[in-house]
Amino acid sequence: MNRNTNNPDDFIPFALPCLGPEEERAVINVLRTGWLTTGTVAGSFERAFAERIGTAKALATSSATAGLHLVLKALGIPRGARVITCPFTFAASAEVIRYLGAHPYFVDCEPDGFNIDPGGIEKALLEKRNIKAVLPVHIGGELCRMDAIIDSSSRRNVPVIEDAAHAFPVNTDRGYAGTLGTAGVFSFYATKTITTGEGGMVVTNDPELADSISVLRLHGIDRVIWDRYRSYSYNSWEYDVVDAGYKYNMPDLLAAVGREQLKKADLFLAKRTKIAHRYIDAFQNLDFLKLPCNTPNHAWHLFILRIVPDSLTISRDEYIRLLVKRGIGISVHFKPLHLMTYYKKLYGLKPEDFPRALASFECCFSLPIYPGLTESSIQYIIDQVTAVGKEHYNTIHAE
Ligand SMILES: Cc1ncc(COP(=O)(O)O)c(C=O)c1O
Repeated sequence: MNRNTNNPDDFIPFALPCLGPEEERAVINVLRTGWLTTGTVAGSFERAFAERIGTAKALATSSATAGLHLVLKALGIPRGARVITCPFTFAASAEVIRYLGAHPYFVDCEPDGFNIDPGGIEKALLEKRNIKAVLPVHIGGELCRMDAIIDSSSRRNVPVIEDAAHAFPVNTDRGYAGTLGTAGVFSFYATKTITTGEGGMVVTNDPELADSISVLRLHGIDRVIWDRYRSYSYNSWEYDVVDAGYKYNMPDLLAAVGREQLKKADLFLAKRTKIAHRYIDAFQNLDFLKLPCNTPNHAWHLFILRIVPDSLTISRDEYIRLLVKRGIGISVHFKPLHLMTYYKKLYGLKPEDFPRALASFECCFSLPIYPGLTESSIQYIIDQVTAVGKEHYNTIHAE
């Protein structure tokens, strides 16, 4: 296939949402009701999501970041406390801990993987005082080793908050990712496995936690705004503010998109899984590439490849540059947080403090993986990734 890389229409984007006439109709219907903000549609999206995933409660939020913040706040994580998470993640997973004046306690990745090391969590819980929560992140949609994480945490009564931003839907024999700990948070950001443009969902089986989150989500008001305007009792204007809450609600306009996306989640997963398997089949015999873990329970939000150290004569960044030049959108997940100025300065961290996160970062890049990726694009990506590697193969390494 010949690609004109000067033509923007010929560029394969790194990520694309998969939206159809159903989402368009749903938005128009909401526009016509005259009620644009949080109301019955958001409520129905929450119920459908809770039913789908098998939790007592699902609370739609303006983002996963907001959802994570709400969970930590509702759990009462105090200023100065520590919350365990992994540096190999997006900014949101740790910034929410800082919002509360608490501190992320970084635990490195598991050997050879992208997810947090349960052994490191156990060690931290044994040695460090003042750890008030554990926040594992299912990187790219690969489930963390939740049995071990929950075992360590529950023995010390420490809540587990799953950052499941990448992990909808990942079903396991113990339930869906996001439902395995005290609470889980999903993201519906534009690039995620299902999307509302911006948005998130908190799920939990703890009714008290859900109630606190519900109040905190909307200004700390003790009744949802919809009730306030729609109940025609004599005191329908009345409300109380019981906390300094936030403006973290999801409007009906976005929830309408979410409801339609939710119906398509299995279809989307099947398509992403098929693409992942195409990549795995194509790359498994290339000794300069290391494949992501191919577990059966994987959301395949990301397909993260690693370059085997010293196997090529070009750097990771040059590999990416050459692929982008050939018309393929490539990204990197993740530049670890301990390399970021804020955390580096605040905690005096050095790159080698988290050697596994650092090693993965230095050689990783992510390929496009989304339902709308055409067969010819998939083949083109496979051909170019293979060709660039082979053209810059380090023959000395192979000897
Ligand atoms: C691991 C992880 N957690 C949380 C978030 C935050 O999601 P949102 O953009 O919905 O706030 C992201 C966003 O990409 C993420 O990658």
